[in-house]
Amino acid sequence: MSRLQGKVAVVTGASSGIGRAVTERFLTEGAQVVAVGRSVDKLENLAKELDAGAALATHSSDLSDDGQAGAAIRAATEKFGGLDILVNNAGVGYSYRDVRPGSMDTLGDATVEDWDHVMNINLGSVVNCSRHAIPAMLQRGGGSIVNVASILGFVGNRDAHAYTTAKGAIVNLTRSLSTAYARHNIRANTVAPGYIETPMVAEFVDYLNSEEYRYQWNPSGRMGNPEEIANGVLFLASDEASYCNGSVLTIDGGVLAAAP
Ligand SMILES: NC(=O)c1ccc[n+]([C@@H]2O[C@H](COP(=O)([O-])OP(=O)(O)OC[C@H]3O[C@@H](n4cnc5c(N)ncnc54)[C@H](O)[C@@H]3O)[C@@H](O)[C@H]2O)c1
Repeated sequence: MSRLQGKVAVVTGASSGIGRAVTERFLTEGAQVVAVGRSVDKLENLAKELDAGAALATHSSDLSDDGQAGAAIRAATEKFGGLDILVNNAGVGYSYRDVRPGSMDTLGDATVEDWDHVMNINLGSVVNCSRHAIPAMLQRGGGSIVNVASILGFVGNRDAHAYTTAKGAIVNLTRSLSTAYARHNIRANTVAPGYIETPMVAEFVDYLNSEEYRYQWNPSGRMGNPEEIANGVLFLASDEASYCNGSVLTIDGGVLAAAP
């Protein structure tokens, strides 16, 4: 299969979950990929497990830092000669509470530091990477940005207020990017996943798979898997989506469609 033959892609948050599935799928479709994450060890494991040879490069960056995001984008232009696709997937969610206990609190309970930290990763990484990717795409004559938001970018939640705020902002930033850069042949679209079985939601897997949740809240009766999100990302990244710009592809098994 070669839906991305000749394309160079940067995938952020690539060492686990959805980012890993996207990386794997892109490689299968003929892309050259720079997989970006924070942990050198995890990236080394990824490279070993995917065994994709010269088509896969890894780059360690904390993408909440603008300079490190710039270095991640440069890794693509230096290694593969340009950039066609950026998948802004990196993010922190509930699993991150172990690292930063107040990170998924309500606004009233979150400290300024916790709020800023989640926003800097979940929204800041999208801003930073896109800012550096756009000039590289302009040089290439166009490109495709796919941002991974969440169904929590459309509805509120009782907690995780920084998370929901960042995801909502990603949806609208994507629309603005699409408006500004369409004339330069750069498309920007959003994928909004529902509940997907990845390390991010590990502590909720039992609940999300329980009879109570599945049949009351989730019309599909199951969680999604990362490959189902990668399919959507692939479509929007590829030339098959040449007339999709500023759009949102919700992949959630129908959770958003179901009124409680
Ligand atoms: N799993 C779900 O149910 C779900 C639902 C909706 C949206 N999402 C979104 O999907 C994306 C991927 O999440 P996932 O579920 O695969 O979880 P995950 O935890 O497996 O993946 C997130 C990745 O982002 C990386 N990351 C975090 N902070 C970073 C930083 N500062 N710099 C670079 N990399 C960083 C992590 O190391 C990790 O590899 C996230 O943006 C998440 O918000 C997930």
